[in-house]
Amino acid sequence: MKTETNKSLLHLNTFGLDQVAARFITINDETELADALQIARDLELPVFILGGGSNILLTKDLDCLVLKINIKGIELIREDDKYVWIKVGAGEIWHEFVLHAIRNQWGGVENLSLIPGTVGASPMQNIGAYGAEIKDVFDHLESVALADGTRTLFFAQDCRFGYRDSIFKQEAKGKFVITRVIFRLNKFFNFNTSYGNIASTIQELGYTEPSLKAISDAVIFIRKQKLPDPTVIGNAGSFFKNPVVSVEKYERIKTAHPDVPGFPTTEGVKIPAAWLIERAGWKGKRLGPIGVHAMQPLVLVNYGGGKGVELLSLSKDITDDIKEKFDVQLETEVNIL
Ligand code: FAD
Ligand code: EPU
Repeated sequence: MKTETNKSLLHLNTFGLDQVAARFITINDETELADALQIARDLELPVFILGGGSNILLTKDLDCLVLKINIKGIELIREDDKYVWIKVGAGEIWHEFVLHAIRNQWGGVENLSLIPGTVGASPMQNIGAYGAEIKDVFDHLESVALADGTRTLFFAQDCRFGYRDSIFKQEAKGKFVITRVIFRLNKFFNFNTSYGNIASTIQELGYTEPSLKAISDAVIFIRKQKLPDPTVIGNAGSFFKNPVVSVEKYERIKTAHPDVPGFPTTEGVKIPAAWLIERAGWKGKRLGPIGVHAMQPLVLVNYGGGKGVELLSLSKDITDDIKEKFDVQLETEVNIL
């Protein structure tokens, strides 16, 4: 196990921001993790846990010990007539796990194809896309407490999953390293093709009927059209969450803007932040090296050489403008450091 000092994080965050970590260790297993946490305690260094860096905004150098989680392994640990339980190392690439599930005809994660990042980060914000969320297939996770190295299991109800939310973004934020996640996948499938244009894309791609592979291919096709590739343009996916407002507030906005889209949820009405940002005139706006993506205004981008503080300032200007124009408070999805 090697401790690196003043390590550049440029290629370790998908915004492509050039910040430095004071200390940096790559963690390959639970023993290395225990050793690294002991070093942090001995040196009284704060710790930051890094996965694929696809949902963080670095606004400064990190004066701490960064642990890059690289714990691997995909293992079938149990099965019955209907389900398989798969234990996956936190450092596995999410999309590679999805492809592994599809190859084995295990259903439940195909709609979540091509989401960047690692398996260990997936419970953090209950990743979701195209009508599915990981809470639907989550069984439990293994974690290690930063404070004293104790191992703790979290079952679904402990995680308090919500829309882009979990206990790990709230009370448990920064307190646990997720080391392995156990998913319960289906041997018999309920294909979920109702979101947006998945069904028509499956046909366009030449499939005569849905399958895990057909859905995955359709989701990949749609995502590649809609979202910028971080290896080409720096970004962290949706920068903001879609706001959920009361029915009354939604009706008020609709009176002023009759074409505002709205999707009823149990908590109120979800309004696409992309619509609000576009209507407020920010879509495609460029401020030197950074900007608002021209195809998908929920995504802030770094064309190259931009700074995290500039992106943060842009996000605040957008948030203030949306508040003023629509009386809607935007919340960030991305973890700001
Ligand atoms: P990181 O960015 O490295 O970390 C994110 C947070 O999780 C940090 O707070 C970090 O400390 C913490 N963390 C990471 N690993 C661990 C661990 N093992 N234990 C404890 N804490 C940990 N998200 C969606 O939900 N749906 C989408 O459709 C989607 N599309 C995206 C498209 C693009 C182009 C991009 C760039 C991002 C997209 N995202 C999406 C966001 C992102 O892919 C997810 O949030 C992903 O789960 C982040 O994984 P990561 O490994 O990169 O996490
Ligand atoms: N829209 C506009 N203008 C645009 C683009 C979209 O007004 O330029 C409006 C349209 O009304 C459209 C609506 O936004 O119907 C929704 O667009 P889309 O289906 O692309 O979804 P999204 O709300 O932009 C969310 C997630 C994505 C996820 C997709 C698919 C959030 C914050 N974002 O995006 O997740 O991939 O749905 O399920 O919930 C991420 O979290 O990083 C992410 C990319």
